[in-house]
Formats: sequence, structure tokens, C-alpha cells
Amino acid sequence: MNPIHTTTRLLGSAAVLCLSSLAWQAQAQTVTANELNVRSLAATCANCHGTDGRAVTNSTVPSIAGMPAAYITEQMKAFKSGARPATVMHQLAKGYTDEQIVTIANYFAAVKR
Ligand code: HEC
Repeated sequence: MNPIHTTTRLLGSAAVLCLSSLAWQAQAQTVTANELNVRSLAATCANCHGTDGRAVTNSTVPSIAGMPAAYITEQMKAFKSGARPATVMHQLAKGYTDEQIVTIANYFAAVKR
């Protein structure tokens, strides 16, 4: 093969690699600190309610994925105040500010069931 041709092809591949790594970096940067914060908060519910609030089949813990945000917020506040008796949620809910509860509720409400 013509050496000039090969060099051009190599340069072309290098340019594609550079561009794709730039694109990857741009994508990685689109996850903001705030989004990470929201995901971390929501992840604290995953042990019992499942990843993204989707409980595993036959789980005794309810799925919270796709529940209306207003309902989740209301229940969390009721657990927190003791108005709704529970086995664990009344203790857990106390660990979150009202603002964090709204953030978490919006996160799960936006998840598809
Ligand atoms: C240690 C396990 C555990 C964790 C962690 C947990 N939950 Fe729960 N959750 C439960 C259980 C068990 C119930 C049923 C009520 C009870 O007995 O506490 C429940 C009930 C609920 C309900 C009421 C559902 C309904 O149908 O009315 C909501 C809303 C809820 N949890 C939200 C959350 C959120 C939001 C988080 C994270 C901040 C969370 N839970 C973390 C175990 C857990």
C-alpha cells in the first residue's frame, strides 16, 4: 500500500479516536453534582425498595417506582411525625429533611414502574 495513503488512514483513525473520547468526556460531564446528590439520596432506599424503587418480585416491601410524588412526600412526612405507624419507615424518615423528601419523591415519581 502507498505509505502516504497508510499515514492518512492512521491519522484519520487517530482523529476519530480523539473525537470519540471528547464526546465521551462531554457526556460524562453532563451528570452534574446535583444529579449525583439526588441519585445518592434515592439509592438509600434501594436496599429495601429495589433499584430505582422497583421492588423485586414477591417482595414484602412495596415498590415505590412511579408512585405520585405527592403521595410519597405525604407518607414520608406521616412516617416522620409518627402519624403513620410502621416497622422501619418511621425511623428512617426522620433522617431526611422535608426538602430532601421532596427531592427523593420527585426522583421516584419520574421512574417508570
Ligand atoms: C430498611 C428497609 C427500608 C428502607 C431503607 C426504606 N424503606 Fe420504605 N418501606 C419499608 C417498609 C418495610 C415499608 C412498609 C411500612 C413499614 O412497615 O415500615 C415501607 C414503606 C414505604 C412507603 C409507603 C408505601 C405505600 O404503599 O404506602 C414509602 C412511600 C416508602 N417506604 C418510601 C421510602 C423511601 C423514599 C426510602 C428512602 C429514603 C425508603 N422508603 C427506604 C422499608 C424500607
